Amino acid sequence: MRRTHTCGELKSSDIGSKVCLEGWVRFSRNHGGVAFIDLADRYGVTQIVFDPEDLPIGADTSTLSNTLRTFTRESVVSVNGIVRKRIAGTEDDRNNTGEIEVLITSAELLNKSAIPPFEIGDQKEGALPNEDVRLEYRYMDLRRTEMIHAMEFRSRFLHLARQYFESQRFLEIETPILARGTPEGARDYIVPSRINSGRFYALPQSPQLYKQMLMVAGLDRYYQIAKCFRDEDSRKDRQPEFTQLDVEMSFIDENDIRSCIENMLAHVWRGLYNKDLQTPFPKISYTEAMEKYGSDKPDLRYELPLENLTNTFKETNYGILKKIVADGGIVVGINVSHTILKEKIGRNDVDRYIDLAKRFGLGGLTWVRIANEELESNIVKYFTPKNKADIKNIMNAKDGDLIFLMAGPKRKTLEGAGLIRKQLAIDLDLIPKNTFQFHWLVDCPMFEVDPISGKKDAFHHPFVLPYDNFKKGACFDILLNGNELGSGSMRINNPEVQVEVLHQIGMSDEEIEKNFGWFIKALGYGAPPHGGIAIGIDRIIAILLNKETIRDTIAFPKNKKAQSLVDKSPSKIDDERLEELQLISLSDNDVDSLTMEEYTEE
Ligand code: AMO
Repeated sequence: MRRTHTCGELKSSDIGSKVCLEGWVRFSRNHGGVAFIDLADRYGVTQIVFDPEDLPIGADTSTLSNTLRTFTRESVVSVNGIVRKRIAGTEDDRNNTGEIEVLITSAELLNKSAIPPFEIGDQKEGALPNEDVRLEYRYMDLRRTEMIHAMEFRSRFLHLARQYFESQRFLEIETPILARGTPEGARDYIVPSRINSGRFYALPQSPQLYKQMLMVAGLDRYYQIAKCFRDEDSRKDRQPEFTQLDVEMSFIDENDIRSCIENMLAHVWRGLYNKDLQTPFPKISYTEAMEKYGSDKPDLRYELPLENLTNTFKETNYGILKKIVADGGIVVGINVSHTILKEKIGRNDVDRYIDLAKRFGLGGLTWVRIANEELESNIVKYFTPKNKADIKNIMNAKDGDLIFLMAGPKRKTLEGAGLIRKQLAIDLDLIPKNTFQFHWLVDCPMFEVDPISGKKDAFHHPFVLPYDNFKKGACFDILLNGNELGSGSMRINNPEVQVEVLHQIGMSDEEIEKNFGWFIKALGYGAPPHGGIAIGIDRIIAILLNKETIRDTIAFPKNKKAQSLVDKSPSKIDDERLEELQLISLSDNDVDSLTMEEYTEE
């Protein structure tokens, strides 16, 4: 070991010790011949002082002074010195090491840094360069305290999660990355095989089918910190490559999976925050979440519920609403009570919500106010007395309240109203800070029909165990503060049921055999009752650390265009490589995937 201490370690009890520190030159300044350097590493910052007057007798002042001149910003250096108390009045309580400084007796430049692309020191808000610059120089960005903290927090989280699963006799098993591909609703990334020319692996969208086969194998408790790959548009909470905490168990029911995850999170909570996490987490049904909060991942840190006003507008003189209801649509209202409104939303502000509703594709949004126990707005004249009375009752309206009304086709209107609810909560400051509200979304449908294409698809994925005559699926989501953290389910273990579900989403026997024959075959060898869940690690870390985007929790993320700026990938490859992989002349070659019979182990 060359260094005696890290840059975050020395305290007043070390005063008088001879030490060796190594780290990066974050900042330096000169005061009348005395040089001060902030020496930084992952652990902190220590103030280093070069004071010619105070050097021990015999010290080579001029060599030292010349060496220090080479200490440019972010160069990596080694210094030997003596710990001393900081001069009274200059103590720094931002750092642990603020009581002391190190008087340099010798120093060495280990490696020079090019001029940093941006300042690494703790940034004032808005002082960071744009994200693409940070991503191009990610190794510099990761020197920032905030990023170091995110990496440490993530590592600690995963360590605690592993600790829990190991204590419960789960096995951590790695599943393949070069794989057959597991469908989770996105596109696959594909990898050409040189040895099997014209054939491709797919990178797994999740370990779903492999973990199920581990259950067939009898390895009845599995977990993995699994890399997953999905070729979908990048967003704040989506990356092409991301990490799941993936779990599967046999001989259990839905409740066992949920309590396993609650206990794991409670263990993690104690380790991270030294606090007890309130368990079990409350449950909300899919139908209630959609109808009351307009979202399948409602933020339940605040109320602001939607109320259904459809019935009353069957009879009204307001033609637009009447027609929407007659066409099978719905009318919903949100009451912004005067107790939370507090004049934060004026008449002009209402236009912003109208605009938001329009941009979402909602036919429109209208509003009424309550004054002197009467409804007021330019459309109230079209309401029947019953419309008015119903609105007041259903919305529990009081003087000073503002009521938003939204109408249109059911799903779109609920989702639009959910969006307005969310925006209102932000504008009205209704969201409590530093509150972590976990929920389970339960009672989900087995299938959903895409409103645009009309295609029936699995609500989660087609391996979920159906019940209630295929109407419901034994699946659930875990939600945190209005985000989907993960999803899980009981799985189909009967091959015939598996085939039936795949039929129901429109697959022919041939397609089923070609794509899933190998997996359905496995289910036929005594697949036990089993189920599991996967939690998005990047997402939970981002939420716990209050980050805008999951990119800030990942060491080397892709940017919004799915590019990795630090290594300039994806990149072009030589024609020779393309030819070797038979990718150049492939287009008119119709290659089928290997069938089991064709597959021969050589
Ligand atoms: P699902 O597809 O819901 O379920 O994924 C589980 C969780 O993984 C995270 N996630 C993502 N995070 C970042 N970027 C992405 N592109 C991305 N896609 C998903 C989310 C999500 O909730 N096999 C099933 C789980 C199971 O049934 O066991 C699955 O993958 O946090």
